Amino acid sequence: MTRIVVAAAIIDEMSAKLLLAQRNYPPEVAGLWELPGGKVEDGETWQAALEREIAEELGMTIEAGQQFGAAVGLSVELELVALRARPVGGAPRALDHAALRWVDAAGLRAMADAGELVPADTTWLEDLLELLA
Ligand code: CDP
Repeated sequence: MTRIVVAAAIIDEMSAKLLLAQRNYPPEVAGLWELPGGKVEDGETWQAALEREIAEELGMTIEAGQQFGAAVGLSVELELVALRARPVGGAPRALDHAALRWVDAAGLRAMADAGELVPADTTWLEDLLELLA
């Protein structure tokens, strides 16, 4: 059975900035930046899974919303989907990542051009730029 990995586009509406997280592992993607998230557990909604993962990994509260962009097949077992999210409480901390960064549209494009994003997440570049516009 395919498991879903949910990833959060956490956008601060006031500053029009997106939260990116720098991966620590595995070696293939260590140092690259991603939309933070994790695997959906049995019986969990995508939104509940993402709210749980972000609380665990970033120590912050979000409200997860609708899916955007295309789903990405990562392997035979894993499919990656992106959800919109809005910060609700707490400042994000890199509890599981190397670092965190808020980027505006120009910053996101520059990182994509420099090849600093996790490959799967580049699928959502245009969608993310639209959300930040
Ligand atoms: O912690 P672990 O690596 O087991 O899992 P994860 O962080 O939940 O990610 C599961 C898979 O999704 C990994 O292959 C990640 O590289 C991938 N992923 C991704 O490509 N882009 C994201 N924004 C989040 C996860």
